[in-house]
Amino acid sequence: MIRFYKGKNYDSASKIAADIIAAQMILKPDCVLGLATGSTPIGAYQELIRMNQAGLIDFSEVSTCNLDEYVGLGGNDEQSYRYFMNHQLFDHVNIDKTRTHVPNGLADDIQAACREYDEIVASVGGADLQLLGIGHDGHIGFNEPGDSFDRGTHLADLQESTIRANSRFWDGDESKVPKQAVTMGIATVMSARRILIMACGADKREIITKAFHGPITPQVPASALQLHPCVYVVGDEAAMGDLC
Ligand code: F6R
Repeated sequence: MIRFYKGKNYDSASKIAADIIAAQMILKPDCVLGLATGSTPIGAYQELIRMNQAGLIDFSEVSTCNLDEYVGLGGNDEQSYRYFMNHQLFDHVNIDKTRTHVPNGLADDIQAACREYDEIVASVGGADLQLLGIGHDGHIGFNEPGDSFDRGTHLADLQESTIRANSRFWDGDESKVPKQAVTMGIATVMSARRILIMACGADKREIITKAFHGPITPQVPASALQLHPCVYVVGDEAAMGDLC
């Protein structure tokens, strides 16, 4: 079942997303959250921090598995997704960092690191709730158009459009953006019991509509979510338009 939720603006969409994550944490205090980076979830993370500091939600038993990490960046690199998660969420809540998992972008043997990451996800029981953003080309994680739906964690080559979009974090210098990433595959994402995908801003309107009202095709990786039994699509008015 796909449920659509529209907030008036980015802040209210972030609040809706945070409320869904908080509900999962209250329902199952030792839940596993699949987490995402990027601009979109930052407001939801800020709201979760506020709720945690107000004593409304407790991260002490929560485990997390992030979607992806750039190849070649370690956790102390400000552009790495581990650094992002520490700074945007983990450093500000009562989470046990040993329970937080991000793929290893520095492994000598990346293929082995991919297999190990799937084992980690399986060993914590899989995600109860997987949070996702969506790229302009429909990517989720770093699963780019054309990737098959049946892959686990793997090494991905970034598309030009993704490198261009992400260069905003490197002062627009595309040459500095890593060209590869370790990412959960669509099969890993689909194994989550619930999925929460966020889309905010007018520039996401076309792709989020395609993903949920268009054909299910590897050309639009997020369209695979139409096949999942429990998906929450949360966005602002600019992105959601007439979706709900
Ligand atoms: C982030 C991720 C990406 C982003 C997507 C949207 O971990 O895997 O798929 O969710 O690129 O990014 P933003 O939110 O910056 O538009």
